[in-house]
Amino acid sequence: MPSEPPLTDAAWRRTFRRRLRNWYDRAARDLPWRRTNNAYHIWVSEIMLQQTQVATVVPYFERFLKAFPSVAQLANAGEQTVLRHWEGLGYYRRARQMHAAAKRIVAEHRGKIPREADLLRDLPGIGPYTAGAILSIAFDAREPILEANTIRLVARLLAITEDVGSTKVQNLMWSFSDELLPRKEVGLFNQALMELGSLICTPKSPSCDACPVADLCLANAKQLQHTIPALKQKISFEKVNEAAVVIRHRGQILIRQCGSKERWEGLWDFPRVPVTSVGKRPIDNELVRGVFELTGLTVRVGPRLMTIKHGVTRFRITLHCFAAELVSPRSDKVAQTETRWVKPGELVQFPLSSSARKLAERLKSKETILSSRRKQAV
Ligand code: ADE
Repeated sequence: MPSEPPLTDAAWRRTFRRRLRNWYDRAARDLPWRRTNNAYHIWVSEIMLQQTQVATVVPYFERFLKAFPSVAQLANAGEQTVLRHWEGLGYYRRARQMHAAAKRIVAEHRGKIPREADLLRDLPGIGPYTAGAILSIAFDAREPILEANTIRLVARLLAITEDVGSTKVQNLMWSFSDELLPRKEVGLFNQALMELGSLICTPKSPSCDACPVADLCLANAKQLQHTIPALKQKISFEKVNEAAVVIRHRGQILIRQCGSKERWEGLWDFPRVPVTSVGKRPIDNELVRGVFELTGLTVRVGPRLMTIKHGVTRFRITLHCFAAELVSPRSDKVAQTETRWVKPGELVQFPLSSSARKLAERLKSKETILSSRRKQAV
């Protein structure tokens, strides 16, 4: 920790603001949420930008606002429709919480996003960061922000070598960010901070040569920029094998909705079970048993359709996808969660996990090939 933290030095802060502003005027990316101060649009962008890259967010942001142009329209939409528009962004809790918050804004605030930090923070999914971003960017309120990019930037500016997650360091960084705020154009300033963190003060190999505030940065002075912020413990990835089963019966396919304790709560998936034996065929018994446990149905496993590798949190999953036929449509066992028989063409209406969507797309292209072959044969 610096002995004389710059948070007490007004001249340092003035220089910092001026340099940041000049740099931002030149370097800012033209992003769709920067062309508006509509609080609802800012809210949607900030929720999407949590844990997701800017380039991924842009098309989702535009499609989402087309589908739900106002808080009221979001509140009135069904959860499945909201999740369908979030499909592929991951961290679906963000979408469910935003939907719940929209309902409360309609019920408790006449559909208007509150301008008070306490009221905003009381809504599902809105913490100090999101509240600060909405209030400063949409309403130009003098509220600080701290998110991944700015935490890294501030930790380097102040050469904080301690764990940035500790309460002590968090308190210091929030009060520093608060003191650093200009009196006017606060939203612009906060966005410039995030942009500097995102474009220049990057996690690996920061571009200190191009940084407008390099000479104000304590980490740069001490050449500590590569070790700050202190790395969290490395995530230990775990390899797992799972199988997804496309069960067909009379031209329909079975899908099931993921329950509240599962990875993709509210989304739909093909019946999916963990498997241990992944050789060519010995997987069958595990599959038949697993599908029965999950759905109450007995199936006969058919050919392998595809293998998908994907990651969820710390799991690196190999998903073995199989076709299957229903042996007996009747069962005394009740399925663990809601299941539905749907025509392949109806899958497009359901929010699916990303791997299930890949499999659905593969089924669609197979059906297209088969039906064009059938047409040629006629
Ligand atoms: N990350 C979080 N919020 C952001 C924003 N408004 N612009 C760019 N990156 C961000």
